[in-house]
Amino acid sequence: MVAVPLGIPLVRPAPAGSGAVRPAGLSGLADQHGRVATDLRVSVTDRCNLRCTYCMPAEGLPWLPSGELLTDGELIRVISVATGLLGVREVRFTGGEPLLRPGLPAIVRATGARTSITTNGLRLGRLAVPLAEAGLGRVNVSLDTLDPLRFGALTRRDRLADVFAGLRAAVAAGLAPVKLNTVLMRGVNDDEAPALLEFALEHGYELRFIEQMPLDAQHGWSRSEMVTAAEILAALSSRFTLTPDPSARGGAPAETWLVDGGPAKVGVIGSVTRPFCGDCDRTRLTADGQVRTCLFSVTETDLRGPLRAGASDDDLAELWREAMWGKLPGHGIDDPAFLQPVRPMSAIGG
Ligand code: 5AD
Ligand code: SF4
Repeated sequence: MVAVPLGIPLVRPAPAGSGAVRPAGLSGLADQHGRVATDLRVSVTDRCNLRCTYCMPAEGLPWLPSGELLTDGELIRVISVATGLLGVREVRFTGGEPLLRPGLPAIVRATGARTSITTNGLRLGRLAVPLAEAGLGRVNVSLDTLDPLRFGALTRRDRLADVFAGLRAAVAAGLAPVKLNTVLMRGVNDDEAPALLEFALEHGYELRFIEQMPLDAQHGWSRSEMVTAAEILAALSSRFTLTPDPSARGGAPAETWLVDGGPAKVGVIGSVTRPFCGDCDRTRLTADGQVRTCLFSVTETDLRGPLRAGASDDDLAELWREAMWGKLPGHGIDDPAFLQPVRPMSAIGG
């Protein structure tokens, strides 16, 4: 187990002025490779009430100290810089588990853009209505298995019934569409792809499979063990007829297929074998106020320090623009020189 030791910087600061000079007068979050970020992912906490084996060790991780987290007010201010000055049109709240953050409904209410969350669903039973009332749009719920015993082994918590209750609560509260995210692991749940799709079709959820990425705190990921997009599609094709979805993908990470002629769809996010970095429109903010240009960045740009030192909204916007200008063209997972980021996924946000 490689835990992140407290007290040492998690990452190097972003290098100043990498590559081409940024033209003056750019208002949005443009980079040197022709992309413009309009989709902000905000991690509101690095904590979680599950312990998925592909994410964190059984004992959890050394969580960020509370003084380092942005307060609700600081988070709302930084998000308003993104939506007000930087052209961000959609804000997705992630974690860890975002529903562990008590202020989330208030943060959603204060966000001046479309909102969505990626959650493990355990607390949706209680929070779906307050979140819907706060104006939350879409919900993605992680679900890797339909089997309670497997769920217990995979997440180290016996809580599958709470996820099902959370899904029903989300639908009842009108949080549509509800999407399911599934990570398949070889020899663990890779036989469940067709059953998960059947479950999703039956309930009207949109299912997306995500290739496992090298973002676990324990550094246990291996390329050869990963269940690939091609394998997922082959497994689904044993029971369903899949045809490519003719609607435009845009910057969406999922490639989608019509199931048995449609209108139902299934998605596959092939981050490793079918990377979509060239169309990426995302920018990220960690719970402790660091901008990341990519899940796989090894550098971050601190907004919390300047914010607490009295920076203006324009100052913060300019720091963010400068950070995004240096966004790398791709994640390079298949490159032998690839370096896994020091921060695990639970502290970056999915
Ligand atoms: N690779 C792919 N997906 C992951 N998730 C968590 N860790 C990984 C990983 N290493 C998923 C979660 C959730 C979403 C935020 O990302 O299951 O659905
Ligand atoms: Fe929690 Fe998501 Fe990590 Fe599972 S994958 S332990 S639900 S943060």
